[in-house]
Amino acid sequence: MKRLAKVLTAFAGVMLSGAASAAGGHALPYEYNADVSNVASLQRGARDFMAYCSGCHSMKYLRYNRIGKDLQIPEDLLKSSLMFTSDKVGDQIHSAMPVDKAKTWFGQTPPDLTLETRARGVSWVYSYLRTFYVDPKRPLGVNNLVLPNASMPHVLWSLQGWQVKVEHEGEHAAEGHHGAPLKLVQQGSMTPDEYERFVGDLVNFMAYAAEPGKMHRTAVGYKAMVYLIVLLVLCYLLKKEFWRDIH
Ligand code: HEC
Repeated sequence: MKRLAKVLTAFAGVMLSGAASAAGGHALPYEYNADVSNVASLQRGARDFMAYCSGCHSMKYLRYNRIGKDLQIPEDLLKSSLMFTSDKVGDQIHSAMPVDKAKTWFGQTPPDLTLETRARGVSWVYSYLRTFYVDPKRPLGVNNLVLPNASMPHVLWSLQGWQVKVEHEGEHAAEGHHGAPLKLVQQGSMTPDEYERFVGDLVNFMAYAAEPGKMHRTAVGYKAMVYLIVLLVLCYLLKKEFWRDIH
């Protein structure tokens, strides 16, 4: 009996630590709920992804014409403003970077990002893009709060500007600051609110890319609900009609 209890405790311990590490081991500085029903936001996210990320990252499980159809972007606009690495709308989104070079340039090959929000979670990706900070000890001069020692440069610095780490986290919180223990020391071309929305659009687009069918599934779900409600009313009226003469 005692042994069984021991085994069970050990098992529970393993399960709990598994859950903790799945959640990143510690709380994320920012929480985010992706909205894949906001087509305007997805369009902005797609444009920004192509402009700022596709130079290094592919999204090889997604094709341009699928984006065009889902996000209501006409083909000529798709070709002129989103397609930098291909001219065939049926192509998958490859990155512009030669794979063999990437490893020597960054020490890491930039991973494919199609399924990134599902692998890491939406809030993780959102926090990652907001928590690059200056760190002279790193080769590129930047570090990241949720991916320590990341080898990706802070590619959005011209928009966000530069943040530094706050030394005493307690004081940071006491002064009424929320979120990451980081301080903006030099603002980029966007205000912090604008940058927040910019990252939100990007993450919405990445969440869409990870599950393009979701948009349609939700739409079909609503239609099915309406259909069932109408059917319910009809059945009720039919029942009343059947029983009218009996009562
Ligand atoms: C100059 C090349 C480059 C550009 C441009 C770039 N990245 Fe990266 N990215 C990398 C590299 C290299 C890594 C690998 C980092 C590591 O594992 O240390 C990475 C990693 C990531 C990761 C973490 C992957 C993981 O799960 O470990 C995410 C998310 C990401 N990039 C998103 C983006 C987004 C979004 C953009 C556009 C705003 C972008 N990247 C632009 C080079 C780039």
